Amino acid sequence: MTDTLELSHWINGERVAAERPSESLNPSDTRDLVARTPDGGEAEVDAAVSAAKAAQPGWADASPEVRSDILDRAGTLLMERREQVGRLLSREEGKTLPEGIGETVRAARILKYFAGEALRLHGQNLASVRPGVEVQTYRQAVGVYGLITPWNFPIAIPAWKAAPALAFGNTVVLKPAGPTPATAEALVAILHEAGLPKGVLNMVIGRGRVGQAIVDHKDVAGISFTGSQGVGAGVAAGAVRRQARVQLEMGGKNPLIVLDDADLDRAVQIALDGSFFATGQRCTASSRLIVQDAIHDRFVAALAEKLKGLKVGDALDPSTNIGPAVSEDQRETSYRYIDIAKGEGGRIVTGGERLTLDQPGWYVQPTLIADTDAAMRINTEEVFGPVASTIRVKTYEEALEIANGVEFGLSAGMVTSSLKHARDFQRRAKAGMTMVNLPTAGVDYHVPFGGTKSSSYGPREQGFAAADFFTQTKTSYSAG
Ligand code: UN1
Repeated sequence: MTDTLELSHWINGERVAAERPSESLNPSDTRDLVARTPDGGEAEVDAAVSAAKAAQPGWADASPEVRSDILDRAGTLLMERREQVGRLLSREEGKTLPEGIGETVRAARILKYFAGEALRLHGQNLASVRPGVEVQTYRQAVGVYGLITPWNFPIAIPAWKAAPALAFGNTVVLKPAGPTPATAEALVAILHEAGLPKGVLNMVIGRGRVGQAIVDHKDVAGISFTGSQGVGAGVAAGAVRRQARVQLEMGGKNPLIVLDDADLDRAVQIALDGSFFATGQRCTASSRLIVQDAIHDRFVAALAEKLKGLKVGDALDPSTNIGPAVSEDQRETSYRYIDIAKGEGGRIVTGGERLTLDQPGWYVQPTLIADTDAAMRINTEEVFGPVASTIRVKTYEEALEIANGVEFGLSAGMVTSSLKHARDFQRRAKAGMTMVNLPTAGVDYHVPFGGTKSSSYGPREQGFAAADFFTQTKTSYSAG
């Protein structure tokens, strides 16, 4: 695939022509220009917010069936085009084609799930403490939402923020991540094709100043952000300054505990998936493998063996297991942390070397680092690449303490055959999500998603919890 897309913003139901000074490159082969893109700023955000504001009352007053049908149709269209959109996703982001198609299907299912939720928005009816008085609660649309989304799930995350916003009668201004605008544009185009009225969903492509303009805009009532902790802190501060609603999903340093009683093959497969698939570029990736003494050496040897058998290559090549990092920056971050780990005394079991393939791309060798301890930077700072380290522990209690001992708390996993330890872990792991005998990454789309501590801020995303952020409750009293 070598055709280059000419992207535009979407404002008030139309593609708005603009200069296209920026580029989206294929990380598997940087000679391939995926798209030329505009570089929006305050003026485009202002036009998008005005369109969203004007469209919002009509959208909220429409029958929920109208909103449900459009989301459902868009889900069907996306499902039908999963090969084509998945291919664009993999070409632009660098995850393998099965991963790109899988993510596209997930986005389609999210649209269909929220098509149902549009019809299920419910309130409560309570007896008042005053005789003869009734109290009802309703959930109502809030207004215009600003959605700032990351590159690592370039269609699923825009879908899981936009679908509930739209289902419940809000309108949206979306800022897709810099490296992956073409994939987000495919979603926005499909929602319009499915019948979305003009102004209900707008998209402004650009850099940080687009996000800043959204955060600062007085008519944006709520902001949902997924990205780095540093940017997230600024988003929260900006939103709180003007009392906008805010929801942040940020990093992780997710532990996977492997206990002595675990099935070795299963533990290896779970670590392989959680730490390395999708090139380790998931905020839910397991980057700390906390392994009990008696199984440690066998686990490290078996995982290293598997890693050596993985093919790193072009995301669109069917024989590839691990695609490239999304950008040169991300590749360099991985190699920088590999050097930091070495400097701290970590032992590179496999990987760690620079990779040169026939084509120019941002490839990283999957890297396993052993003999690390919990306080090292490799075990406290997020890498966001195909890099994992092992920490040897004696007991379950020690493992749990280390698992909980970082500033993040998104997803925590454990592989064990002990029901006692599994139940205890579910209760005591300081994380928003726990995974027993499953990878830390790879979540369902119909249940709440989010973390504790520095990983998340504000109400949960996804599933039934999405209504907490994308609606506001009205309490109505009446007497006969
Ligand atoms: C998953 O693990 O299935 O940015 C989803 C991220 C998360 C989504 C992870 N917000 O990686």
